[in-house]
Amino acid sequence: MTHAIPTPLAPPPDILRCAYMELVVTDLAASRNFYVDVLGLVVTEEDDDAVYLRSIEEFIHHNLVLRRGPVAAVAAFSYRVRSPQELDRAVAFYTELGCEVRRAPEGYTRGIGDSVRVIDPLGFPYEFFYDVEHVERLAWRYDLHTPGALVRLDHFNQVTPDVPRAVKFMEDLGFRVTEDIQDAEGTTYAAWLRRKPTVHDTAMTGGDGPRMHHVAFATHEKHNIIAICDKLGALRLSDRIERGPGRHGVSNAFYLYLRDPDGHRVEIYTQDYWTGDPDNPVVTWDVHDNQRRDWWGNPVVPSWYTEASPVLDLDGVPQPVVARTDTSEMAVTIGADGFSYTRPEDDDDALPSWKQGEYKLGHQL
Ligand SMILES: [Fe+2]
Repeated sequence: MTHAIPTPLAPPPDILRCAYMELVVTDLAASRNFYVDVLGLVVTEEDDDAVYLRSIEEFIHHNLVLRRGPVAAVAAFSYRVRSPQELDRAVAFYTELGCEVRRAPEGYTRGIGDSVRVIDPLGFPYEFFYDVEHVERLAWRYDLHTPGALVRLDHFNQVTPDVPRAVKFMEDLGFRVTEDIQDAEGTTYAAWLRRKPTVHDTAMTGGDGPRMHHVAFATHEKHNIIAICDKLGALRLSDRIERGPGRHGVSNAFYLYLRDPDGHRVEIYTQDYWTGDPDNPVVTWDVHDNQRRDWWGNPVVPSWYTEASPVLDLDGVPQPVVARTDTSEMAVTIGADGFSYTRPEDDDDALPSWKQGEYKLGHQL
């Protein structure tokens, strides 16, 4: 582990949930088409430079901001806190850590009031807010629902080089680990962390970072995800599908990973489980278990391990990326040097030959 981030004496802000992501996109019309016309997110407001989108069940102004800019990147991972007073706590918490902290009483984005933005000790642009404009919750507006309706923002996923260091910091911020992936040598490859009582509000994925791995929206049912795949096929947009559909081992959710016109990764996710009890058991997966990332044993495509979006500092400049020095999950599970198993008691070579290396997807002839 590199140097640990000290635990501040100041208490952390009381975070409710992940609330929205601000994405910088290079072609606003193309991104609007993808998120609105293809995925069915609802436009709350828009102008020439930005589109403010929400999911069907949301009552706050937006869950996603698409902002026109020169470099495709993430400008903010934004969390709602329990009360306006929590913003003072956020300022004190991050100031004590020596982080860059800015507060905007009128808010940074349309529809959001008093808010605090920081560059956290891991290098990510985080935002906290309470004041927000309420809009119509469209849960009962079935006349507007599509077969693949996205109903909630579910979580973020962040790439960071040192997962245990990130987990310790996020626990200081008040998050709890629900699941993780480790090996017998003590390397942690990824961890899932929650505030709301689901599997996560954000996950820390080991890799060169800080970068954004994906933002995830929930559907009600599995069939909604199949409908999205069918629609992408009908529109001849199957190349937007990177991985899935499938069933995760971690989180037990049904999933699909898409790439937007700038390459930002979006997950469609449904049916994870309740985690709100104080003694909720942590689930630890062996990195060599080939059902950890896909319960049906389907391989993870290499791009999913290696590609992610840059994140911006508070002036809009891409943050420098630090290389991971711990072993990579792809290296230990995919290819000639990697191995995985279906049954833990099997010998290393028990997988059928056509399954060994599990990199056939993305490498087909
Ligand atoms: Fe996810």
